[in-house]
Amino acid sequence: MTEVVTAAAGADTVIAQDPKDRVIVFDTTMRDGEQSPGASMSLDEKLELAKILEDMRVDVIEAGFPIASNGDFESVRRISEIVTESTICGLARAGQADIDRCAEAIRPAKRGRIHTFISTSPVHMKWKLQMEPDAVLDMVTRSVSHARNLCGDVEWSAEDATRTERDFLRRCVEAAIRAGASTINIPDTVGYTYPSEYEAIFRDLIENVPGADGVIFSTHCHNDLGLAVANSLAGLQGGARQVEVAMNGMGERAGNAALEEVVMALKVRGDRLRHHTGIQTQHITRASRYVSAITGFPVQFNKAIVGKNAFAHESGIHQDGMLKNAETYEIMKPEDVGQGATNLVMGKHAGRAGFREKLKTLGYELGQNALNEAFQRFKDLADKKKHVFDDDIVALVDDALASGTDRIQVKSLRVIAGTEGPQSADLVLTVDGEDHSATATGDGPVDAVFNAIRMAVPHGADLRLFQVHAVTEGTDAQAQVSVRLEEEGRIATGQAADTDTLTASAKAYVNALNNLMARKDKRPLGALASQF
Ligand code: KIV
Ligand code: ZN
Repeated sequence: MTEVVTAAAGADTVIAQDPKDRVIVFDTTMRDGEQSPGASMSLDEKLELAKILEDMRVDVIEAGFPIASNGDFESVRRISEIVTESTICGLARAGQADIDRCAEAIRPAKRGRIHTFISTSPVHMKWKLQMEPDAVLDMVTRSVSHARNLCGDVEWSAEDATRTERDFLRRCVEAAIRAGASTINIPDTVGYTYPSEYEAIFRDLIENVPGADGVIFSTHCHNDLGLAVANSLAGLQGGARQVEVAMNGMGERAGNAALEEVVMALKVRGDRLRHHTGIQTQHITRASRYVSAITGFPVQFNKAIVGKNAFAHESGIHQDGMLKNAETYEIMKPEDVGQGATNLVMGKHAGRAGFREKLKTLGYELGQNALNEAFQRFKDLADKKKHVFDDDIVALVDDALASGTDRIQVKSLRVIAGTEGPQSADLVLTVDGEDHSATATGDGPVDAVFNAIRMAVPHGADLRLFQVHAVTEGTDAQAQVSVRLEEEGRIATGQAADTDTLTASAKAYVNALNNLMARKDKRPLGALASQF
């Protein structure tokens, strides 16, 4: 037993932690999260995210679905090469080709896992698989046995488990355990279950399936009814010891249970929930911001744990209480999740060493080239902006990391805007070092800028999202822009930050275009939907 201090109910309480209540945190941001329509990530972005998740001490990283595309295969393989602390998992349907491809992708991993699944509910078996239950049961044994021959760590999932007939679910789980699965996942695929019901399913399986005491049961909850986190916690109370979660609650449709919410509920309410995780929670905000930036999915202001307002106190009564004692209105400290106060960091006279130290506190360890590039951008920003805040630094470094290797870059931009149309843009892009210029008009300045990009580098992609938000307060705030482009089913997101909104818009569009070019070989996951 280990003793930890928790801030339950405002008072510090000592809680004994039993190793058998240690919960394995399985992050699926890069797999189920990436299945959020439009949320695809580039290889470089996934590699960076994998490092952030590893720093956060995520136990298992589900890095992708290797058979879905060459891009997915490559990202699972490369992540397997660079991550040493977390287990790297790949998803596979029940067919041999899927499992073989997955095994190949995770081969370089220090600790690799094959996660194979098949649907078990009547509606999925009849309409999606068009298979009889006995054939599905047989497939469970064959798929898990095949995976076990290739990898010592196999997870099996009963897709749509919560709408599966209980007796059939028990038989499938038993077959998977007999065939060698060490983790059994019970997904609430369509976000349909209810906490007490989900808890009861785990209790039933753990009590009644032979061999259940030798495996780890896992939750995997979707948020269609807004119950994903509550259901995940109920699953733990029913005996599960792994939670499948995604940063910011990303995932199919309404998303998956949010990593930050499940982890912090366990940490803050250690007095009620005896379970605990190994997550270093101070990395949560950085991970959340990074995922939001690379996917272009904003985090709602009032989102629990990671929202901009999660620790803001607006009303006078609350502010008064906070000044007297923060425990009056705060059940956890912002620092616990890495939300520092928006500190004034440094002026333009700051040196490189101080800047590097600042980056470290914000969770960045950059190589020499990236550091030089970020430092130059910081100096440029400090020239333009009176106060440079932590959030400015985060936006600037993410921007430098996102666009550093781009083949197309914005060299210069001049825009005419105002009430007298047409608005126009004069633009110079460099493509592999060679200048391409264009002048275009448009329906507003942003339209003019994007038209000029299309003229300078002709392409067929359609604009799917254009989003701007201010990084900090004030009229000299940097604008952070996200752009999503789509071409023949391929989707790519780009982002950029600049004190000039139009420059940020041009750079974000160009970044998205670079990402689109880099993933030309990636097929959408939807193309695989109903086969196995
Ligand atoms: O929701 C689900 O059922 C899944 C499985 C593939 C685990 O994501
Ligand atoms: Zn899912």
